[in-house]
Amino acid sequence: MPAIEVFAPAKVNLALHVTGRRADGYHLLDSLVAFAPVGDRLRLDPAPAMALRVTGPEGAGVPEGPENLVLRAAALLPAGQGAAITLEKHLPPASGIGGGSSDAAAALRGLALLRGGAVPVAGLERLGADVPMCLVPAPARTQGIGEELSPVSLPPLPALLVNPRLEVPTPAVFRALACRENPPLPDLPAFADAPSCIDWLAQMRNDLQAPAIATAPVIAEVLDLLAALPGCRLARMSGSGATCFALFASEGEARAAQAQLRAMRPDWWSACGPLGDQTAAAAPRRL
Ligand code: C5P
Repeated sequence: MPAIEVFAPAKVNLALHVTGRRADGYHLLDSLVAFAPVGDRLRLDPAPAMALRVTGPEGAGVPEGPENLVLRAAALLPAGQGAAITLEKHLPPASGIGGGSSDAAAALRGLALLRGGAVPVAGLERLGADVPMCLVPAPARTQGIGEELSPVSLPPLPALLVNPRLEVPTPAVFRALACRENPPLPDLPAFADAPSCIDWLAQMRNDLQAPAIATAPVIAEVLDLLAALPGCRLARMSGSGATCFALFASEGEARAAQAQLRAMRPDWWSACGPLGDQTAAAAPRRL
């Protein structure tokens, strides 16, 4: 049986409004997400049991044991064909771009192809609130705690992603929220092009940005640097941070901005590319 390769793209919250709180303490969100052409890679080799090995430039410190979301996702499936999974990490962990959730979703897509079954969808938010939205990595409005998904149509948005190499614990950011009942997103208009979409997004917010900055002040520095780059039309944090993104009218401007940022802060992680639909790139394929 051939091995399988799957791409796990980064998720970016273009806007994230915190609209309430559930009885169990989880927060109700109204968010717009899109996916980047950068991400982790998984290789699944048929094996008697499930096993995980982590490699790649961002793999240091990522657990290989049963606590890893990849193995927790695999454990939700009925017993069947096992796999020796190699997870090549390119996304910084705990950084607001859904790396672990996207890895779990990619493992489920890969295992479905390996076993010839369907990808399970029910209850995946128990693994992590971002797992359901990463299953089909296409632009979506997400509500509830992240499990209510509606596909949306967005133009590809040229972007630069930047992480100041700081892990931000999500629960601490939610605890630092001053207001938990903000207005939801308005209905999305149809966008003619990237600049009109960016103008609309600029009127939205990430309600986790202020509490994340209070927890990790370097995020304010990242946002100031991004906003000052030539061509930057919007600078915002994704998820609970610390990764921030800048949006541009063109790919060329985004790449030039990345070169400038790298010269200023060579120690920071960065990636460049259009945010949008990564469904085709993320489809599992036999090697
Ligand atoms: O589901 P996930 O593992 O991403 O969530 C980590 C923590 O973030 C949760 O335990 C909870 O404290 C907080 N959280 C929240 N509301 C959400 C998502 C996460 O309060 N919608």
